[in-house]
Amino acid sequence: MKTPVHIAITGAAGQISYALAFRLIAGDLAGPDQPLVLHLLEVPEAMLPMKGVAMELMDCASPLLADVIISSDPREAFDGADLVFLIGAKPRGPGMERRDLLQINAEIFAVQGQALNQAAKRGVKVLVVGNPANTNAMIALRNAPDLAPENFSAMTRLDHNRAVSQLASHCGCGTGAISRVAVWGNHSITQYPDLHHARVSGAPALEQVEQDWFRNQFIPVVQKRGAAVIEARGKSSAASAAHAALECMRDWMFGTPADDWVSMAVVSDGSYGVTPGLVYSFPVTVADGRYAIVPELPINQFSHVRMHLTEAELIAERDMVQHLFRY
Ligand code: NAD
Ligand code: LMR
Repeated sequence: MKTPVHIAITGAAGQISYALAFRLIAGDLAGPDQPLVLHLLEVPEAMLPMKGVAMELMDCASPLLADVIISSDPREAFDGADLVFLIGAKPRGPGMERRDLLQINAEIFAVQGQALNQAAKRGVKVLVVGNPANTNAMIALRNAPDLAPENFSAMTRLDHNRAVSQLASHCGCGTGAISRVAVWGNHSITQYPDLHHARVSGAPALEQVEQDWFRNQFIPVVQKRGAAVIEARGKSSAASAAHAALECMRDWMFGTPADDWVSMAVVSDGSYGVTPGLVYSFPVTVADGRYAIVPELPINQFSHVRMHLTEAELIAERDMVQHLFRY
């Protein structure tokens, strides 16, 4: 019997967690022979619905589920965690931008960053999903001085998947034919989904699609997809977000495919001139559980302007929450 992996999920009574937890106990993240202990965190007012989720998880009788721990105390919930999905936060409604959530959600990530610092395993992988995800991740890591910044990432995998899907659909091919799509910057309207390095069946994507489609349809559709889902569903994306979170964590644990990369928002080391310390989405490869920003991609003026614009938005967000940083 393998040692169980301890996975903490915040916002455990919410819609994304509900779509995620049952896939975890089916083995979709860590494999069909890897036991798990789930640590579920909610606010005190949502303990009852979270208990209901825990009951349903037990009722699956999954041989992978070694235990379920429920708590409203972040320190208790993160105790011994190997993997953490920070999902619990308010979602936006119609007509809002994700940055409108910053003042509402920021404090959550300061408190949870401190709890992670105290209680999580030192090699923990923390994926921030709650919006605005990039800046929330920056708040969390800046409250966890004893954890490496590389332990934290914010989720732009949903944007990456949306970009892959839009390109495949436009080219009339399967998504398996698409590689090297990159999403740069913030998980927001300013994100820059970039096809300059992308390939369709191994050949350059921009030789197979029209510039006008790339610039005037593809980019805004991907940038605004979250709002379009809210408009259609009346609620923000949930199953696709859970799927993206699972894929992001899986690739972070087990590595990215040869000849391809994924998009993850990670602490900038100054690559591509991005201000160090911002949590910015880059194309990354992963090996041995560690990500590396893909180096030295050629960046033209069109891309440079957009990469800078989304960086400027992250700087403005950072400036609004600096008072919450512990270092
Ligand atoms: P939801 O309202 O269904 O669930 C959120 C849950 O979080 C609620 O049950 C709430 O009680 C809980 N919560 C609030 N504060 C908490 C705290 N301090 N500790 C623990 N739990 C807490 O929302 P959802 O649809 O699951 O979305 C969650 C977040 O994920 C939102 O901020 C949403 O905007 C974001 N999101 C991000 C992406 C992305 O791509 N990064 C995609 C989809 C949604
Ligand atoms: C998304 O991209 O679907 C989420 O971030 C939810 C939102 O507010 O758009």
